[in-house]
Amino acid sequence: MNVPQQRVLRTAIPGPRSVELQERKTAAVAPGVGTTLPVYIERAGGGILVDVDGNQLIDFGSGIAVTSVGNAAPRVVSAVQQQVDDFTHTCFMITPYEEYVAVCEKLNALTPGSFEKRSALFNSGAEAVENAVKIARSYTGRAAVVAFDHAYHGRTNLTMSLTAKNMPYKHRFGPFAGEVYRAPMAYPYRWLGEDCAAEAFAAFVDTVHTQVGEANTAAVLLEPIQGEGGFVVPAPGFVRLVADWCRDNDILFVADEIQTGFCRTGDWFACSFEDVEPDLITTAKGIAGGLPLGAVTGRADVMDAVHVGGLGGTYGGNPVACAAALAAIETMQADDLVGAARHLESIMKPRLGALAEKYDAVGDVRGRGAMLAIELVGPDKAPDPVLTAKISSACHREGLVTLTAGTYGNVLRFLPPLVIGDALLTEGLDILDAAFAAV
Ligand SMILES: Cc1ncc(COP(=O)(O)O)c(C=O)c1O
Repeated sequence: MNVPQQRVLRTAIPGPRSVELQERKTAAVAPGVGTTLPVYIERAGGGILVDVDGNQLIDFGSGIAVTSVGNAAPRVVSAVQQQVDDFTHTCFMITPYEEYVAVCEKLNALTPGSFEKRSALFNSGAEAVENAVKIARSYTGRAAVVAFDHAYHGRTNLTMSLTAKNMPYKHRFGPFAGEVYRAPMAYPYRWLGEDCAAEAFAAFVDTVHTQVGEANTAAVLLEPIQGEGGFVVPAPGFVRLVADWCRDNDILFVADEIQTGFCRTGDWFACSFEDVEPDLITTAKGIAGGLPLGAVTGRADVMDAVHVGGLGGTYGGNPVACAAALAAIETMQADDLVGAARHLESIMKPRLGALAEKYDAVGDVRGRGAMLAIELVGPDKAPDPVLTAKISSACHREGLVTLTAGTYGNVLRFLPPLVIGDALLTEGLDILDAAFAAV
């Protein structure tokens, strides 16, 4: 689909047809499924979303870090069309197919870790995390799993239990899964001590030792840059300290790279910034250019511990999703999307830094590659979710799709497709600038 890479506003946002569709949604769809921006999309390409009223919006969200290769990326489109034409489903556990094997080979080669690896494919990020925990428990024969403050790992019962934030993810959905423990995160902007990495690490070790016991702990699960929690980049050295400590204590270190993976942060995987080789890595989102796919990749001896038939699902590693993943990965390699993410950072970071200079409300600018955020605060760093929502809405009205995040709802996060052109990117940043001036 060839969509001109231009912002166009033909109506107010949302336009009349979108308003109509939103009324139908309200009548037909369970309200628990919320809407960030009630603009109904008809077509999309690269960094532009075209709505049913003919408006063309700049995409700074990528469907929550999914369409890194661009929406309807040409290689993904033709691979999917070809695969749908060939066959749509057999169930890999019944009669297998090459595409699944090829995706696992790619994952084993691309993820950090110089050891032999294996992968297994699933339908979503949450399902990947669920399975990583199953594999870790099977390998270690232990039950406990440790996650961190501000973590987000999904919405199924176990992953909701691993997620740190109550509203909207957990409220009234308990009881939660057992044997989940939580340790402090090295969140530099909000750390009250002197040495964030060392002190948070000491608190983590103390938590595991006193509340759980090393001998009961199967795995420690960490996002190398936290996603929904507010794009928290752990203090330098923290990820490494945790991973090394896990190895020294025979506890598996699981990196949840569902949001950070596949070039998003300016490397293939964010763990590489600290030269960390996780025992298991979960991926999803950017892996397949918009088709639903999740994966667990890890040390062969760990992955081999699970009995035959213990992992799987009807649709896991669906051939169409696998064909899309192979095409998306080919695009990332051929078009150097690692370099593209770094290029986007080089344009965006200074602009966000300039906002912080200009407005006291911008308390922190952080992130890596094309996974960047600003945290909005009042006096004494008090989180300001109201201002955050206002700025985001002002951007939406001007045809820029922005997302919020953070435990306190006060983080504006930016996740443009890695293929977005400089002109669109700059226009989006100008809209953000104007939104600050206006509210
Ligand atoms: C780090 C992380 N883990 C897990 C998930 C859950 O993935 P999914 O929504 O595909 O189930 C997400 C989704 O935002 C995520 O960011």
